[in-house]
Amino acid sequence: MKRSLDCLIVICALFLFSASYAVANPRPGRTVSFNDGWRFHLGNVGSGQNLELDDSQWRLLNLPHDWSIEGEFNEKNPATPGGGALPGGIGWYRKTFSVPDNAKAKKVLVDFDGVYRNSEVWINGHYLGKRPYGYSSFQYDLTPYLNYGSQKNVIAVKVDNSQQPNSRWYSGSGIYRNVWLTTIDGAHVSHWGTYITTPDVSEQAARIVIKTNVHNDSQNDTPLSLSTIIFDASGREITRDVAKGIARKGTGGETDQQLTIKRPTLWSLEQPYLYKAVSLLHQGGKIIDQYETPFGIRQFVFDSDKGFILNGKPVKIRGICDHHDLGALGAAVNTRALERQLEMLKAMGANGIRTSHNPPAPELLELADKLGFIVMDEAFDMWKKEKTPFDYHLDWDQWHKRDLEDMILRDRNHPSVFIWSIGNEIPEQWGGNPAAGVIGKELSEIVKGLDKTRPITSACNFVSDQNTLITAGDLDLVGTNYAHARIADFPKMFPGRRLIGTETTSALQTRGSYDMPSDLIRRWPAKWDKPFKDGNPDYSCSAYDNCSAPWGSTHEETWKVVKKYDFFSGMFIWTGWDYIGEPTPYPWPARSSYFGIIDLAGFPKDVYYMYQSEWTNKPVLHIFPHWNWKQGDTVDVWAYFNSDEVELFLNGKSLGTKRKTGDDLHVLWRIPYQPGTLKAVGRDNGKIVLTEEVRTAEQPAKIILVPDRRNIKADGNDLSFVTVKIVDRNGIVVPHADNLVDFQLSGEGLLAGVDNGSQISHESFKANHRKAFHGLCLAIIQSKGKAGRIVLKANAAGLTPASVEIQAR
Ligand code: GAL
Repeated sequence: MKRSLDCLIVICALFLFSASYAVANPRPGRTVSFNDGWRFHLGNVGSGQNLELDDSQWRLLNLPHDWSIEGEFNEKNPATPGGGALPGGIGWYRKTFSVPDNAKAKKVLVDFDGVYRNSEVWINGHYLGKRPYGYSSFQYDLTPYLNYGSQKNVIAVKVDNSQQPNSRWYSGSGIYRNVWLTTIDGAHVSHWGTYITTPDVSEQAARIVIKTNVHNDSQNDTPLSLSTIIFDASGREITRDVAKGIARKGTGGETDQQLTIKRPTLWSLEQPYLYKAVSLLHQGGKIIDQYETPFGIRQFVFDSDKGFILNGKPVKIRGICDHHDLGALGAAVNTRALERQLEMLKAMGANGIRTSHNPPAPELLELADKLGFIVMDEAFDMWKKEKTPFDYHLDWDQWHKRDLEDMILRDRNHPSVFIWSIGNEIPEQWGGNPAAGVIGKELSEIVKGLDKTRPITSACNFVSDQNTLITAGDLDLVGTNYAHARIADFPKMFPGRRLIGTETTSALQTRGSYDMPSDLIRRWPAKWDKPFKDGNPDYSCSAYDNCSAPWGSTHEETWKVVKKYDFFSGMFIWTGWDYIGEPTPYPWPARSSYFGIIDLAGFPKDVYYMYQSEWTNKPVLHIFPHWNWKQGDTVDVWAYFNSDEVELFLNGKSLGTKRKTGDDLHVLWRIPYQPGTLKAVGRDNGKIVLTEEVRTAEQPAKIILVPDRRNIKADGNDLSFVTVKIVDRNGIVVPHADNLVDFQLSGEGLLAGVDNGSQISHESFKANHRKAFHGLCLAIIQSKGKAGRIVLKANAAGLTPASVEIQAR
């Protein structure tokens, strides 16, 4: 095996163009990154596709790239605050490259993981096609139009995101996902050419069925054979199968192979174990293609009584919904930024992700496979009926079949994908419209034609026996958005059917802002139209979990219901992270969402610890709010914890011990404020397990920098997220500090973005300064691609500055 792979590497090494291995390569051996060295022009250009166009004055950049995030917030931008209030428009990208003479007998293909939106692509002036949907991945064959040797090639991409609004959240604009170049023989494994299922799984053995699509338009008559080899996670060969005489010249087709893995290690949330299938195509003793497919072995069922069962064990889906932006980085995908999002969710105890409301970047699914998440992979936010004037409904008739098929073909080997969603709150479902059932049936058939191993759902509103999308019977899982108070009635409403909370909660919070629940007692739990009828003057929503959208409910209220019913397989909370756009409940100047458990900069809001105390086994004790109030104030102190009891002390004096009773998810002390130290002591069986202190802060005195990682890869992509704290002379974060912090960066890194989690800040995410918000802000450092030291310095008027050193290796 080793020998054959080496031989392949030699063959492929001949065809490395502008190779860069900075991004995890999905198809090593045949595919290289095509991200580097693009020219970009913002605005339309006549004949931007022409080979001879002089683009030397265009901006040189590396993909992924999102031009909207570089722009200025403005209420008048056509995206509207709902879309993030950043500019859209038209942009052109061009890349010049050469292809060696020895690639003449090969096929050369380009893969775009996602371009928002209406991309049109040309190679050397020849039109390759258009792709309206900004979330689909697609491929073009460049071969017929390529120049070889010293002659140059130009690939040009026009991106048109000028017609807005076309989204209910921030979309970003540009080639915002990775681009790849694939070089293959005329005989090769097709695009998304493998499909792996594991129909029989027991402790003793798993049957692995692999369908491999091979296309053969080579000039060579020599018969082809296909070896499929399975490796375990340590890279050890487990088993192989060889199919001879497949795909004769000028033909193509599917080869079915069956293999057995004895005593398989199952993929689970705790141990997301991955195998890898390597497909090797041989011709006349030579390996002419290699194609890798990671996969996992797991068994699951959604049961109408017992809910979701994974590998024989009931598991409540504790999921979150997220949009695709990465805060200050915008929509430009970055694997480390995604990994950080998932790591923080995992540490909270979340086990599910809904890719609301569109196919995600492939890297999200790769990370979910590796970290152990249950993914609900969603195709659309609307069908034929619009939600915003220029959205995908305009492309529906021509494109929905292709876009849905492509999502399934691309994603169906991921063990983390458990549910296909064909839509979110589709307007056709309302008012008993029969179109909902008709389209739902068509979409379900498209999915089933490509994958029968996962249930299909759609996120429905007004779950009722009048909902034609549900009554048509094509949804394997009935998905309900909100309506948590009606969960108890579901089994009666839909006897025998399986249920999932496709979207729940929609609570609203601003990190570090507190409207005392006891003061709002008559209005608690509050909806935003009650305590916030006129809004808070600072456009904040209270972080006590006492504020939610009227169609939703607070975090505690929702989770209490969801955890109660076994038949309810789980929920996807709206949302895990704040996102740009949809600033419900506030109008401009608000420009990003309040729904997240974690703010846009990545700082957890208090309720993060409520989930952690419920969803993990690690000891949790979190008390809040901060301890800087006015003399004479009476303050609600809340504790989220999972020990038996908590005792609270103010300046050494006990304020009593509390235990949760009934279905409590927190305890509360109402106490007169005195400056000093609030200390909580958590005990199990009388033994101290955790203590937590909140202290009164004095004036801001200095800056502290805390990087999440001091060593990053020198690959041009890796990131260190540096938390910037404004502290007093004792090192205590000053809860109201909003000092303006200036950043200076030197060495082998660049400042990729700054943020502070405020939902109303109009400062640029790309500036070299940021005001603190409730004592914190964030600087994101990105490696430039060369090893070396990176030094970040932070200054603010009147404060002792700080610096931190990161190593790019
Ligand atoms: C839902 C919708 C989400 C988001 C959310 C806000 O109805 O599906 O996309 O808009 O409301 O509460």
